[in-house]
Amino acid sequence: MRVLIMYYSRRGHTAQVASMLERELAGRGASVEMLRLHRKREVGFLGCAREARRGAAPALEELPKDVSQYDVVFLGFPIWAGHAASPANSMVSGVQNAAGKKFVLFATSGFRQGFVRGLDEVETAISQLGARVIGKQGFPLPEQGLDKERAASLVARVAGAV
Ligand SMILES: Cc1cc2nc3c(=O)[nH]c(=O)nc-3n(C[C@H](O)[C@H](O)[C@H](O)COP(=O)(O)O)c2cc1C
Repeated sequence: MRVLIMYYSRRGHTAQVASMLERELAGRGASVEMLRLHRKREVGFLGCAREARRGAAPALEELPKDVSQYDVVFLGFPIWAGHAASPANSMVSGVQNAAGKKFVLFATSGFRQGFVRGLDEVETAISQLGARVIGKQGFPLPEQGLDKERAASLVARVAGAV
């Protein structure tokens, strides 16, 4: 199984979760490629919140990938102002050959249920590309101790669907 884990992380929590997913997938024999995307121009807390609220898609340093060679694409992002962080929109609009592909979404949040709307928004956007979301999972900070367990259970769930 060839897997791409493509994610944006401003402060490192989403990156930590991405690494946990990588370990779980590798443990199941998958060949995993990581792609951490960075934005071209950083903005402050309020700028991030504003961008997320209006669904902006800021320019990224690295191009999101042509995903045709992967069996599954994991896409991760934090939650800002109740929405997917704006670089998630950039990943979705920049990804190439997503039609027919299987996606797994993961989002980190500061609140226990903070990830719900953002995951749904990105699922809708991904589905509009003709791709299929086969799993999604939130990783809230107040329950960070459960990140590893949640990463393992997400990978176990989606491994059966690939
Ligand atoms: C601008 C901004 C807005 C945020 N808004 C929310 C929010 O509405 N709900 C929530 O649960 N967490 C919110 N958070 C917290 C982040 O989602 C959380 O800390 C996340 O794990 C950060 O991921 P990162 O370390 O990969 O950047 C916000 C963080 C930032 C920077």
